[in-house]
Amino acid sequence: MTTQELVFSGVQPTGNLHLGNYLGAIVNFVKLQESHNCIYCVVDMHAITVWQDPADLTKATREVAAAFIAAGIDPREHIVFNQSQVSGHAELAWVFNCVARLGWLNRMTQFKEKAGKDRENASVGLYAYPNLMAADILVYRATHVPVGEDQKQHLELARDIAQKFNNDFSNEIRDNGFGAGQFFPQPEPLITGPATRVMSLRDGTKKMSKSDPSDYSRINLSDDADAIAQKIRKAKTDPEPLPGEEKGLESRPEADNLVGIYAALSGRSKADLLREFGGGQFSNFKANLVDLAVEKLGPVGAEMKRLTADPGYVDSVLIDGADRARVLADRTMNHVKDIVGFIRRR
Ligand code: TYM
Repeated sequence: MTTQELVFSGVQPTGNLHLGNYLGAIVNFVKLQESHNCIYCVVDMHAITVWQDPADLTKATREVAAAFIAAGIDPREHIVFNQSQVSGHAELAWVFNCVARLGWLNRMTQFKEKAGKDRENASVGLYAYPNLMAADILVYRATHVPVGEDQKQHLELARDIAQKFNNDFSNEIRDNGFGAGQFFPQPEPLITGPATRVMSLRDGTKKMSKSDPSDYSRINLSDDADAIAQKIRKAKTDPEPLPGEEKGLESRPEADNLVGIYAALSGRSKADLLREFGGGQFSNFKANLVDLAVEKLGPVGAEMKRLTADPGYVDSVLIDGADRARVLADRTMNHVKDIVGFIRRR
């Protein structure tokens, strides 16, 4: 691994963090600390693309930061901060608003889902959201981005934006001492592990999400042992026993999801689990999954609670992280301003 590689990722402070966020993203953030320099951001500016009660936003921002730390991210060795404290994100996003094409944004499926039928009434921010996301990554010229499957299309857009900027300004990029067309890297999505798309516990065809009206559809990181147990026991299944092999999970979305969650929490493969549980009823499998989930998630939830009880500490982590992030972002922004032709103080 070369020292040039840099990891960046973000999580929105909107509502409850759930098992999908944890297994699809945060667990991978923790692992990557061993091999890379990492920057993990609580993306509060993304959150306000849909209405957020200001007091709730503050609280949720601290909660996501607490979840990062509780899960094992070291904010001294790496960088943990909230997006709005580093102005480079917004500055680069504006430049990218002028690089990205309307046609590119029109293809974004997440905008279509979130805006729904009342598209005319969606905020401009919700529409331009993927440009800000590209700016988050590229303002650090980050090379690797751990995310869940649902962010893949946004990452592809970030790559297109990086490439168009590099092409549009190739002469200036060369004049500023970079290889022609080589200013921004092509950020690589890291979508890894058995839980890149954790599904709802009530409907195996729908993604586990913060916005599902049923709290039984998801396990929140803040859930206590009783809530975790109840939600897993009530999770939808089908009447068949568990299959002995992975291909038997095809067209059984709820079974597939629960086995995937077990695999991700235990670090075992689905095939290995099905050798143990195949042919058996869900009740036994679920009882084991409850024990495992409580063992793995209980301590994270408890530590989150302890940390959020001390908002002064969490804020100090975010401020310190932002101070270090700003140095890096400003360095990129100075180059961007020179490349684009903006006058600045030297
Ligand atoms: P957000 O806040 O919706 O989700 C945070 C992370 O959790 C992953 N995730 C899931 N993974 C598996 N199964 C699920 N059901 C599930 N639900 C969510 C997401 O893929 C994500 O990795 N736009 C981003 C935040 C963002 C960002 C960035 C990410 C802003 N700027 C720059 C990477 C780089 C988002 O809304 O994630």
